Amino acid sequence: MKASRLFLGTLIALVACGEGTQGSIDQTALGETAACASCHEQIVESFVQTAHFNTSAEASSGSIKGSFSEGRNVLRTHVDDVWFEMEERDGGFYQTGYTRAQSSGIRLPETSPPRARTEPFHIVVGSGKVGQSYLYWKDDGLFQLPVSYLSELGEWINSPGYYDGFIDFDRPILPRCLECHSTSFQPRRDGSGMLYTREYTLGITCRKCHGDGSRHIEYHRTGGGDTTGRSMVNPADFSRQGQLDACALCHGGDRKPKQPTFSFKPGDVLDDYFFEPAQRDNPLPDVHGNQVGLLEGSACFVGSPSLTCSTCHDVHQQDRDLSVLAGKCLACHQVDDHPRAAEIGEQMNSSCVDCHMPRRKSDILQLAIPGRESFISYRSHAIAIYPDVADSILQAHRPQ
Ligand code: HEC
Ligand code: HEC
Ligand code: HEC
Ligand code: HEC
Ligand code: HEC
Ligand code: HEC
Ligand code: HEC
Repeated sequence: MKASRLFLGTLIALVACGEGTQGSIDQTALGETAACASCHEQIVESFVQTAHFNTSAEASSGSIKGSFSEGRNVLRTHVDDVWFEMEERDGGFYQTGYTRAQSSGIRLPETSPPRARTEPFHIVVGSGKVGQSYLYWKDDGLFQLPVSYLSELGEWINSPGYYDGFIDFDRPILPRCLECHSTSFQPRRDGSGMLYTREYTLGITCRKCHGDGSRHIEYHRTGGGDTTGRSMVNPADFSRQGQLDACALCHGGDRKPKQPTFSFKPGDVLDDYFFEPAQRDNPLPDVHGNQVGLLEGSACFVGSPSLTCSTCHDVHQQDRDLSVLAGKCLACHQVDDHPRAAEIGEQMNSSCVDCHMPRRKSDILQLAIPGRESFISYRSHAIAIYPDVADSILQAHRPQ
């Protein structure tokens, strides 16, 4: 807690420095949140610890979760003489793919030096709750590095969708990836592909959901203590569909854009920006999640006109305590008359979420890990009765 207090002190000092530059907010992620900290201290203090805020960052020893230490910095592939090494040198971080084989398939003598391709880590994508991927700049283009990191294993892995045993540094990053994982980028198409300027804001900051805050700040600095928030977008004021849209920009699965990426603003209608989801009735339960589509199909959603994501989530803080989240269900359900109450007993709250929103393996995001089949699992938002899941949970807790 002490560290975060200190951190907040620094944030507020930053705001104080910026006081003179009226109307303009420092557009780094920290600068932006610092501009809100003097009046919304608690929200900012907890928000900077969330997965949203930390979902992208400049590469540094703090932001990269994978290990560069000897022995743990190598990713072997199923091809004996193709491997990757992750190195930290001269203050920079690098991924190198090595091979002794020529592309023609003719093997070089064992003594010949390995051929290598090296690129730096520049941008980290992913808070590391599940894992991270890494991007590098080449001129004004952004590309994905072939090696990612999976937190569950604590290991380097082939980037999702990459073939094991290939050295591929040429996957361009499309704007939609950055629209979901950052606050802003300025993409432009050019004959040779997508290009980006170096003016961007990593991490998801307040602006992404509340819009530009400069008029709000200016008003409240001089507003004579007005306790009603003015000139500021509050998603709580949106219609139910509007509230869902504000999350579905990134939690609504893969949809084809109709409008340029990064043009959606909080309060806009999502259908104006994206074509209908490919399978509206059968949303793909991918990790690159479609929580909105799954929730919309649940009886809870259909039966309660006011249920939104905010019924259970406060995005300004990290809420991963399953018993606390189970408490949100009790706003609408009573557990005294739960049909299996006697059997469930003390596990009623602690297993509530696991029984009705079980973790599922993603069929789409499979990972090529040599010698192992590996998946990423996600929490299903299709709230329902899963008799098999319930039985196995009850079984596991039954006294022998
Ligand atoms: C100089 C003080 C001040 C600063 C700086 C400030 N706010 Fe506020 N804000 C207020 C006050 C006062 C209210 C009304 C009381 C409340 O809801 O906390 C408010 C309310 C809000 C509301 C609710 C609005 C509504 O209509 O219900 C949001 C959202 C908000 N602020 C976001 C932000 C964001 C984002 C920033 C940084 C970009 C920011 N504020 C910076 C003073 C400030
Ligand atoms: C439509 C929005 C969207 C797009 C496009 C998208 N992501 Fe994601 N990504 C998400 C969401 C939402 C999550 C959180 C997963 C969940 O729990 O549903 C996530 C999770 C992740 C994670 C794991 C983060 C963690 O929790 O540790 C990584 C890494 C990641 N994405 C990388 C990428 C990369 C790289 C791209 C582009 C090449 C990309 N994503 C494209 C929305 C998106
Ligand atoms: C991922 C989207 C998202 C981000 C990012 C975000 N907010 Fe919010 N904020 C919301 C939503 C949604 C609500 C309305 C919650 C509700 O329905 O009660 C809200 C409400 C608020 C309110 C009104 C009072 C309250 O507590 O509900 C304030 C103040 C606020 N946000 C400040 C901030 C500040 C400051 C930041 C950045 C540090 C920020 N928000 C970042 C989505 C976001
Ligand atoms: C700009 C894209 C974007 C928007 C808008 C957005 N999210 Fe997210 N959200 C993400 C990404 C990306 C992640 C995964 C972050 C990571 O771990 O790297 C995430 C993660 C989450 C998580 C998991 C957090 C954790 O600590 O495990 C929750 C819950 C969540 N979002 C809820 C919401 C809700 C509710 C809204 C709407 C009010 C919303 N999000 C709006 C992109 C977004
Ligand atoms: C805003 C109110 C609300 C909240 C919050 C809520 N539900 Fe529901 N839920 C409902 C309604 C309404 C129904 C439909 C009841 C009916 O049709 O008789 C329902 C139905 C269900 C069903 C029966 C599903 C089926 O397919 O038959 C289960 C199980 C359930 N909810 C579990 C949960 C759990 C677990 C949570 C918390 C994670 C939760 N609910 C949160 C309102 C809510
Ligand atoms: C009825 C309660 C409820 C509602 C409504 C709800 N969630 Fe969740 N959400 C949960 C629970 C419980 C978890 C599990 C938290 C955990 O495992 O740490 C969760 C987890 C998540 C995660 C992390 C996913 C993962 O695989 O770990 C994301 C992202 C998320 N919710 C987004 C959303 C979005 C977006 C909405 C609105 C469409 C939404 N949620 C509506 C209860 C809810
Ligand atoms: C051990 C697993 C388990 C736990 C824990 C559990 N449930 Fe259930 N729940 C079930 C099963 C199985 C059913 C279907 C029972 C039946 O129809 O006989 C069910 C049924 C329901 C229903 C439908 C009720 C009806 O009358 O049809 C609701 C609503 C519900 N659960 C909510 C909850 C909530 C809320 C919690 C936690 C606070 C919870 N459950 C905890 C397994 C569980």
